[in-house]
Amino acid sequence: MDTPETESRWWHGATLYQIYVRSWQDTNDDGYGDLNGVTAHLDYLSWLGVDGVWLSPTMPSPDEDWGYDVSDYMGVHPELGTLADLDRLIAEAGQRDMRVLLDLVPNHTSSAHPWFVEAVSDPGSPHREFYVWADPAPDGGPPNNWLAATGAPAWTLDEASGQYYLHNFLPSQPDLNWWNPAVHQAFDDILRFWFDRGVAGFRIDVAHGLYKDAQLRDDPPAPQGELVRGRFGLAQVYSANRPESHGVFRDWRKIAESYPVPRVLLGETWVGDLDALAAFHGQGDELQLTFNFPFIFSPFTAEALSAVVAESLDKLPAGECAVWTASNHDISRFPTRWGGGDERRARLGLLVLATLPGTLVLYYGDELGMTDVDVPHELVRDRMRAEAGARESRDRARTPMRWDPSPTGGFTGDQVQPWLPYGDPASGSVAEMQAEPSSILRLCRDLLGLRRREFAGQLASYAQRPAPRGVWAYETGGLLVAANFSDGPATLDAPPGPVLLSTGEGALDGQVLQPWAGVIARA
Ligand code: NOJ
Repeated sequence: MDTPETESRWWHGATLYQIYVRSWQDTNDDGYGDLNGVTAHLDYLSWLGVDGVWLSPTMPSPDEDWGYDVSDYMGVHPELGTLADLDRLIAEAGQRDMRVLLDLVPNHTSSAHPWFVEAVSDPGSPHREFYVWADPAPDGGPPNNWLAATGAPAWTLDEASGQYYLHNFLPSQPDLNWWNPAVHQAFDDILRFWFDRGVAGFRIDVAHGLYKDAQLRDDPPAPQGELVRGRFGLAQVYSANRPESHGVFRDWRKIAESYPVPRVLLGETWVGDLDALAAFHGQGDELQLTFNFPFIFSPFTAEALSAVVAESLDKLPAGECAVWTASNHDISRFPTRWGGGDERRARLGLLVLATLPGTLVLYYGDELGMTDVDVPHELVRDRMRAEAGARESRDRARTPMRWDPSPTGGFTGDQVQPWLPYGDPASGSVAEMQAEPSSILRLCRDLLGLRRREFAGQLASYAQRPAPRGVWAYETGGLLVAANFSDGPATLDAPPGPVLLSTGEGALDGQVLQPWAGVIARA
C-alpha cells in the first residue's frame, strides 16, 4: 500500500468535532437540525481548524433514544435527510480536507428493527437468535439481577413466547446476541457499506457492551467509589465488559485498515480503570481510539488531571493514540462541569485539551464556552433519564447551537418551535465571537491552528515538569505548557521560553501566571 505517512494514521494529533445533528442547524424549518445544516456550516468548521466530524446517530430510528435505537443500519433518518444528502456532506467535507465519522450502535437495535420484529413474531426464525432470550426465573421474574440504564430490570417479558429479552437500555432497545456469528456477519457488512461510501470511521456506541456472560450470571455489587462502571449499585462484570468483545474489535480493525486510507474506530469505552481502557487497543490491533471517562470525570485540578493523563499515556500500548475530550451529549458540558460558568476556566480547559498528545474531540459549542441549559421539566425530550427519575436530563447539553445573536440563534426560522429550548442569547454566538479577537472562539481557533502546525500526524512526547502547587506544567513535542488551576497567582520556577499562545491578555506577567490562566511557550 502506498498511502502517504500522514494519511496512514491521520487521526494522530487530529481534531475531531462531535455534531449533535439535531441541534446544529435546521434547514427545513421543522425544528430539528439536519444533514444539510451540517453541510451548510462546513466552511465554519474548516475556518475553526477541524480535521473531522463525528455525527451523532444518522440512521433511521423511532427516536425513543434519539437515534441510539436503530431500525435500519444502512439508511438515513428521514428527519435528518437522505442518503444523497449524506453523500454530498461527505464529498463537500472531503473538498475541505475534512473527514466524516458516523455513530454505530452495535450493542442493541430498536425494537422496530425488522430483525427484532421477526424475532418476536416468529420465534422459529433465524433472527430470534440475534437477540438475548432467557426463560423466567423459578418465581416467574426476570432471569437474573441485571439492571438497565434506567435502574429497572434489564429484562422484559415477551408474553407470547414466555421468554424474557435483554435490554441494557430502554425496553425498546433490545440487546444483540454477539455469541451468534450471523450478528458478526451483519455488522461486517454494515461497516463495509459505509466505508465504501467514504465514511472515515465510526464512533462505537457502548463498545464495552456487546458480549454478555454466556451463563447470565448475576452482576455483583459495585465496589465503593466505582463511579464509572457501577450501575445502580451493581458492577457490570457479566451484563457488559466481557473479554469476548475484543475479538470483534480485532476483526473490525482489519476491515478498517483494509482501506487505502485506513478508517478509524473510536470506542465509547465507558470503563472506570485505565488498564481496562488500554485493553481496548489490544496489541495495537483493536480500537485505534477510545474515550477516556476517568479523564472526563476527573476533578478540574492540576493534581487530578495530571495524574490521570500520566497514567493514561503510560498504559497505552506503544504507538497507540490517546483521546482527550471533556463534553458530549450524555454529560454536563465542561464549561459548566469543570468551569462552573467561569470563562477563564473554560479557556484553560481548551488550552489543556488542545495541547495533550493524541486526538482531540470537541463537542459542538465547546469552542464558544457553551454551558448547560436549564431545560424545564415539561420540555425534556430525554426519555432515558426521565424514566430513571434523574434530576437532570441529558438535554441540558443538547440545546441548539448559537450562530448569531438573534433570539433563535440562527438555528431555525423565527416562527419555528425548536426541538429543545435555546440557551441565553447573551452568552454569545459564532458571529459575535468571530468578530471579537479576544473571544474564546478565536482562542479555540488559534489553539487548533497551533495544534495542527505542531502535532498533525504525530504522537507527541509528554513529560510533566516541576511546578508550584496548583499549576500543571508539561512539555509536549516542542512546547511547554503551564496552566494555573487555582484562584491565586502562581510564580513559575523559571520564566518559560517565548510565549506562543495564552488563555488571554496578561495571562503571564514575568514569571507570574494569573489565576485560571495558561500559556504555551516554545520548550
Ligand atoms: C451511549 C450513548 O451516547 C447514549 O446517548 C445512549 O443513550 C446509550 N449509549 C444507549 O445507546
